[in-house]
Amino acid sequence: MIVLLKEEYLDQVIEIENSSFEKPWSRKNFLSEIANNDLSELYIDVVDGQVVSYGDLWYMFENCDLTKIAVRPDKRNQGYGKKMLKHLIGIASSKGCEFMHLEVNVNNKEALNLYEGYGFETVRTRKRYYENGDDAFDMILGLIGIEQPKKVLAIESSCDETACAIIDEDLNVYSSVVTSQIDVHARFGGVIPEIASRMHVEQISTIVNEAIKQAHLTMDDIDAVAYTIGPGLIGSLHVGATAAKSLAFFYDKPLIGVHHLKGHIFINEMIKPLSYPMMALVVSGGHTELVYIEDDQTFKIIGTTLDDAIGEAYDKVARLMKEAYPGGPVIDRLAKEGQHHYQLPTPKVDGYNFSFSGLKNAVLQTVKKEEAAGNQINNNDLAYDFQEVALNSLINKTKKALEEYPCKSLVLAGGVAANSRLRELMKENFSDKDLILPPLKYCTDNALMIACAALHYLKAGKFVSLDASSMSSMSIED
Ligand code: KG4
Ligand code: ZN
Repeated sequence: MIVLLKEEYLDQVIEIENSSFEKPWSRKNFLSEIANNDLSELYIDVVDGQVVSYGDLWYMFENCDLTKIAVRPDKRNQGYGKKMLKHLIGIASSKGCEFMHLEVNVNNKEALNLYEGYGFETVRTRKRYYENGDDAFDMILGLIGIEQPKKVLAIESSCDETACAIIDEDLNVYSSVVTSQIDVHARFGGVIPEIASRMHVEQISTIVNEAIKQAHLTMDDIDAVAYTIGPGLIGSLHVGATAAKSLAFFYDKPLIGVHHLKGHIFINEMIKPLSYPMMALVVSGGHTELVYIEDDQTFKIIGTTLDDAIGEAYDKVARLMKEAYPGGPVIDRLAKEGQHHYQLPTPKVDGYNFSFSGLKNAVLQTVKKEEAAGNQINNNDLAYDFQEVALNSLINKTKKALEEYPCKSLVLAGGVAANSRLRELMKENFSDKDLILPPLKYCTDNALMIACAALHYLKAGKFVSLDASSMSSMSIED
């Protein structure tokens, strides 16, 4: 994610600087870039907590100077330089700059190729510009009328997270803000819909404003507003819908109503491009589905749960074990210290469908039986056995489905995709496939996933009108 330089990343930037330039900037130089945000801006690209590249712009009236771009040595030739340059061009043109200027060593062929590829033209040669006697080219790029990647602002409020994110067509993330109500609902052992809606109302304006502020953009820079239209808690959905519709109406932007599960699926594009046909194993608090995806607009559910969703089963089983809500992460943790001890039945369902209520009832019966016998339940072992049975049923059905529906890639999606054992089993069983697991921070609900999916609606011109109804239940096929 490309953001303005913050002090916490300074050490990493200095390390890249020292390995990239003969006359590196000092810490003081960088600190003044942080302090002096009106005249100059230094952007960093942070991937998994590591700075992979940075680029610096100085603004001078209608012009700007690209003073430097650097990529971490082990990340070179992977497109990060291009990504940063594109970002800086976008930023400069959205700030109204007419020209971008830079100097480059005439012998630096790689950099010259990069700049020429983006339309920079050499306007003069500066003789012996560098200390070693090398010449420099002065290059200029006209920014007026430059095509900018379209940007989408997306809102998610389908359950107990209020979130807003801004992304562009090239998957540059400008901001992603999430606030969770989980601590409040945990007191009640589950999400209380009325409390959820009220808390969304309290949070939504702050979250949207924060996302715009962190992106250093205004609503004028946004090309479309997206929101989760369903499925989810109806009161919660309405809060996000109302906010999105108000923005779309006031700023005259097209409106996109995103299916929540498509968000969970398309967030995987943050890892790498998806190839079709693709199979998605969707595992969340409300859904367990095997979805065959022919192309980015065509979805077919080939298997679904006949009763509880997998996340719901985790939450209910944790409650039976008198553990905290949400149960998924708790069982994940407990099972790590457990071993096989309790005999639980494997769900038997035809085709690619799932069922977890029999397994949940078996856990209940086990707890009752042990309590009646005066035995202490071993929650680690019970979590282990529940999890092994539940997850293996997911894996087996997925395997079977892939035999009938050969796919180019397989993605895991939804809150339960955060489960460490499921991730392990997916890797063990599908190592021969193009398997994509979502980054942990994007498994549970967030708005970046809605923004990623919204780009596909935008591409297909699928918009909704201001009177579109939110839907508590809604098929991914529609
Ligand atoms: O996708 P999500 O955030 O909300 C829905 O769209 O439903 O999923 C929430 C579900 C909850 O049931 C939660 O217990 C489960 O995801 N979950 C997990 C883990 N982290 C969250 N389940 C198993 N293991 C985890 N580590
Ligand atoms: Zn979700």
